[in-house]
Amino acid sequence: MAMTPLVQEKNLVFRLDAGNASYAFQVTPDGRLQHLYWGPKVEALEELTRLNGKNPYPTEPSLDPQDNQCWREHQLWEFAPEDIGVYAPATATVRSAQGTQVTDPRYVSYRTFPGKPALPGLPASYGQEEECQTLEVLLEDPATRVQFLLRYTAFRNLPVLARSLAITNRGDAPVELRRAASLTTDFCHESLDVVYFDGFWGKERCFHREPLQGGLKVLESTRGLSGHAMNPSVILCERTATEEAGRAYGALLVYSGSFAIEVDQSPLYRTRLNLGLHPQCFQWLLNPGDSFQTPEALQGFSAAGLGTLSRAFHDFLRNHLIPRQWRDAPRPILINNWEAMHFDFSKEKLVKLARTAKANGVELLVLDDGWFGKRNNDRNALGDWIPNQEKLDGTMGELADAIRAEGLKFGLWFEPEMISRDSDLFRKHPDWAIQTPGHSLSYHRFQYMLDFSRPEVVDYVFDTISQVIQEAKLDYMKWDANREMTEVGSLALPPEQQGEVAHRYVLGLYDLYQRLTRRFPQMLIEGCSAGGGRFDAGILAFSPQFWTSDNSDAFSRLFIQYGTSFFYPCSAMGAHVAVNWFPQRYSPVETRAAVAFAGTFGYELDLDRMPPEELAQVKAQCQFYHQCHHLVQNGDYYRLTSPYENNTVAWMHLAKDKSLCLLTVVFVRYDAAYAGENLRLPGLDPQATYSDGTHTWPGNLLIQAGYPVTTPKNGDMLSLQILLQKE
Ligand code: DGJ
Repeated sequence: MAMTPLVQEKNLVFRLDAGNASYAFQVTPDGRLQHLYWGPKVEALEELTRLNGKNPYPTEPSLDPQDNQCWREHQLWEFAPEDIGVYAPATATVRSAQGTQVTDPRYVSYRTFPGKPALPGLPASYGQEEECQTLEVLLEDPATRVQFLLRYTAFRNLPVLARSLAITNRGDAPVELRRAASLTTDFCHESLDVVYFDGFWGKERCFHREPLQGGLKVLESTRGLSGHAMNPSVILCERTATEEAGRAYGALLVYSGSFAIEVDQSPLYRTRLNLGLHPQCFQWLLNPGDSFQTPEALQGFSAAGLGTLSRAFHDFLRNHLIPRQWRDAPRPILINNWEAMHFDFSKEKLVKLARTAKANGVELLVLDDGWFGKRNNDRNALGDWIPNQEKLDGTMGELADAIRAEGLKFGLWFEPEMISRDSDLFRKHPDWAIQTPGHSLSYHRFQYMLDFSRPEVVDYVFDTISQVIQEAKLDYMKWDANREMTEVGSLALPPEQQGEVAHRYVLGLYDLYQRLTRRFPQMLIEGCSAGGGRFDAGILAFSPQFWTSDNSDAFSRLFIQYGTSFFYPCSAMGAHVAVNWFPQRYSPVETRAAVAFAGTFGYELDLDRMPPEELAQVKAQCQFYHQCHHLVQNGDYYRLTSPYENNTVAWMHLAKDKSLCLLTVVFVRYDAAYAGENLRLPGLDPQATYSDGTHTWPGNLLIQAGYPVTTPKNGDMLSLQILLQKE
C-alpha cells in the first residue's frame, strides 16, 4: 500500500502520518507556513486549519483586521520568519547584499514522492520506497530570491519524521546565510517539561528534566564537536508524563559539530523548538546559484510516555540510520588494551593477552593508543600514522597475524582528525592545523585539530590510515577525538568564508568517514571522543557503536547509560568490564558485567592480572552474552527505575516477539532494612506465562504486580540478572 502525505489543495494543508502520529501544517493566505498539529494520528485535514491561535490583542471592529502585524507571536509557525514581528528565534536568517536581515519567504510549490533521498555530503536516515514518503515544500523570499526547500520524510511503521532544509540563492547578488535550522516546530501547551542531557568527560549525558518557564533556553555546543557538554537531543513532554504514560516529543540532530537547540516559551504559551547549526559558529556565503544543505533532524512522538518514545528512536536508529550491514550482525566481544597497559605494551604482552582472552570467550583484541610514530605518551606523533616496528617487534601485519593466530580478530585505535604539536606532520605542514593568524594556538593534550575544511588534508589522512588498515586487514577501528575546536580559522579560505570553517570541518570529517566505510565495508568502526564526547546520530550513521565513557565505574555507568538510553539504542553503547584508573568505588565483577551487558560488551583490563576468582567468571559472562546479545542488540529496552531516584536501579531487554526477557537489577547501597520489592515488568505478553528457571509467572501478574527482587547478599553494588522465558 502506497503511503502519501495528505494534501488539501484548496487551503494547502499538509498532513504527514508517521507510525501512529500525525503532523500537519498549512500555507496561510499570505503564503507563509504555519504549524497546525503534532500528536496522535488524526483523520482531519481541513478542520486542522481551525487550530491556529487567534491574536489576543483587542482590535476595534472598525479597525482593519489585518492590523497589529508587529505582534504575530500568537501564531504557530512551521517556517519561522526573521524580523517581521515574530521575535522568537527564526528558522533561517539571510543577510542580503544590502546588509539587511529580513527573511520572509512565501509559498511556491510542493511535491511528494515515495522513498527518501540522501543528503549531499551529510549523514542521513534512509528508507525504501515502501517504507517512507517524502514531502517537499518550496518557499521563496521575494526580496532576495533565496529559496527554501523544506523536506519531510514520514516513516510508515515508526512515529518519526526526518527533516531538513536546503537553501538556494536564485537572486543575482551574493547573500550570507546567518542561521539555518534543520527543524522548527511550535507547540501551544501551557505546561511542558524539557528534558536534556549535559555532561563532562567521565560524566556524559546527565539527565535533566525541568518545567519550561517563559523565555529562551538554549541547549548548545559551540565547540566544533557535539561534545560532552550537551547532547544534540531534546524532549518536550507533558508535565505529568512518565516512562509509561503521557505525551512526549523528541528531537535529535544528525550532526557532529556545533549546534543549538532553542526552546522559547512566550507568555501566550507558544513554545518554539528550533534545532540546527549553531548560529554563533556559522555563516555561509551563497553566491547566485549556490545551495546549502542543513543537517537532518529527526522528530519522534509518543502518546505513551518516555519509554515508548525511546524505543521508537532506538528502532529508528537501528533500522534507518546505522550502516545496514551492522543492523543484525552480532558485535564481537572485545578486549581493549588501554586500561590494562596504556602506552606500555609489547607484542609479547599483547599476544599473551589475546591467548587468555580467547581461552575465555573474547573475540576481538583492540590495540589502543601508542602503536605509531614515537608515541610513548600523549605528547606527540598524532598524524604520523606509521607503525612503530621497534615497539611492535615487527610490522603491523605481523602483529595482526600473531593475534589472529591466537584465534582473535584484530582492531586498532586512531585519532584521525588530530595533529600533535610534536609530530613530523606538524613540522612539515604547520598550516594544516585549524588556526587564526595573530592569535596563539591553544593546545589540549598537546594536540591541535587538523583543518578538515581542506580536501588535501582529508586526502592525506585517508591515504595514510588506509595503508595501515590494509596492511593489518583490520576488523575494527576505534576512532577517537580528544579535543575541541578553538581559534577557529583556516589558512586556505578567504576572509568572507572564515565563518564556514567549523561546518566545513564536519563535512570533511563525514567525507573521511564515508571514504573509509566504502573502501573497508567489513571493518567495524567504534566512535570515541575522550570517552563519549561526540556520541551523536551523525557519527552513528557510519559507526554503529560508540565508546560511551572513559568512566567504566559501574555506579557512574548506571547514570551515563541511563541518560544515553533516551535516544540511543543499547547496541550503540560501548560498555566494558574494567578495573578503572579512576578512583572508583568497588563493584563486584558480576555487577560490572551486568552493567556492561546493557551495551556492546567487552573488557578493558588485563585478564592476566585479574584475581583468579574473577577471571573464572569471564568465560561464563561471555557465554551468557552470546545467549542474550540479540535481546540487547535488537530487542526493546525498558528503563524500570531511575538511578537518580532509586537505590534499586533496574532495566530490562525484551525480545520483539516477547519470548525472552532479561531483567537486570543493581542494588546500589546495602540497606539492612531493605525488604525487597516487586518490579513491574511492562511490555511482556499478558496472556503468556514466563519461567525464571524456578517458578512460572503469569505475564499479566508480572506486568501488573511485578517480579519480586531482593539483594542476594550483604554489600553495596550487588546485582541480579534474571532471564524470563516464555513457556
Ligand atoms: C581517550 C579514549 O576515550 C580512551 O578510551 C583511549 O582510547 C585514550 N583516548 C587513548 O589516548
